[in-house]
Amino acid sequence: MTTKRNFIKQFFKNKNMVGAITPSSKFLGKKMLSKIDFNSAKIIIELGPGTGVFTDLIIQRMAPDAKLFVFELNDNFYTSLAARITDPRVHVIHDSASNISKQLKTGEQADLIVSSLPLTVFSEKLRKSVITESHQILKETGTYVQFQYSLQAKRLLEATYKTVSVSFTLKNIPPAFIYKCIKT
Ligand SMILES: C[S@@+](CC[C@H](N)C(=O)[O-])C[C@H]1O[C@@H](n2cnc3c(N)ncnc32)[C@H](O)[C@@H]1O
Repeated sequence: MTTKRNFIKQFFKNKNMVGAITPSSKFLGKKMLSKIDFNSAKIIIELGPGTGVFTDLIIQRMAPDAKLFVFELNDNFYTSLAARITDPRVHVIHDSASNISKQLKTGEQADLIVSSLPLTVFSEKLRKSVITESHQILKETGTYVQFQYSLQAKRLLEATYKTVSVSFTLKNIPPAFIYKCIKT
């Protein structure tokens, strides 16, 4: 089965977890990762990689001594990604984005978080939990990048981060908003 067909299958199995009918475009991923200083990003976290469109782009850009922790809750996506990604810098973790701190070493903090989590279909409890958890695990100078199909999450992100900038692209199905949030 192609990765696209499998993605659609996973969507119909659990719409509230997958939150999109098709994988994101590389264009969206490149736009999300533009202007990130990958020389200084030593601890990177990706939330909700799905088939790994953004994971591959991060791997291409990350420094040789950087680490990437990828959190995927869906069994099928996790199994495929863990089998496919063999780069020793990458740790594919089968757990929820609300458990980041449980999976990292004590004191380990992130320079960059790249999230594709479908925040709008999450319960309010889970949405707040992943946003709070991400914010706490970020270094003071860290960046949180998130895409969404609407502006619904804007207020919550603005209440959490000091600076939030929003951009938009039509080069994705559906078109997407990109939030770039800076902690301090
Ligand atoms: C909109 S899809 C994005 C997939 C991929 N990054 C892309 O852009 O094509 C959301 C992803 O988040 C994952 N996900 C949903 N809830 C999660 C959670 N609590 N923790 C980790 N991953 C989760 C889903 O299984 C799915 O892979």
